[in-house]
Amino acid sequence: MLNGRRTRLDVHPMKRLLDVLREECGLTGTKEGCGEGECGACTLLVDNRPVNSCLVPVAHVAGARVMTIEGLRGRHPLQRAFVEHGGAQCGICTPGMIMAAVAVGRKPALDQIRTGLAGNLCRCTGYEAIYRSVMRAR
Ligand code: FES
Ligand code: FES
Repeated sequence: MLNGRRTRLDVHPMKRLLDVLREECGLTGTKEGCGEGECGACTLLVDNRPVNSCLVPVAHVAGARVMTIEGLRGRHPLQRAFVEHGGAQCGICTPGMIMAAVAVGRKPALDQIRTGLAGNLCRCTGYEAIYRSVMRAR
């Protein structure tokens, strides 16, 4: 399942999930930063857990539930909060940050947010605006 839809794809099984989404599915919301599992820009959810899609061959998610930023349909409280509280600047880290924050769950404490987003790097915001956005999402 991809964003709630049953999806069949005819692609090489070792192609990176990140590339399949962007190139075959037209889902370009998931970003590539490092391509090596270091930055978290490519984070999405596989069976509700955050995963770096640059490290995952598409074959590994056969039969799993994959959720990308598009799956939130622009209506998730976190998306609104990132806009309202300055959590997004250049935006490259933002989809990954939001998907990691979704996995943290509702009404997290600051230390839960710090831990949940520890694998996601941001060059712009200094993180405080991101933490504030996650705290205030409702
Ligand atoms: S692009 Fe996947 S972790 Fe950096
Ligand atoms: S907003 Fe630019 S990298 Fe985070």
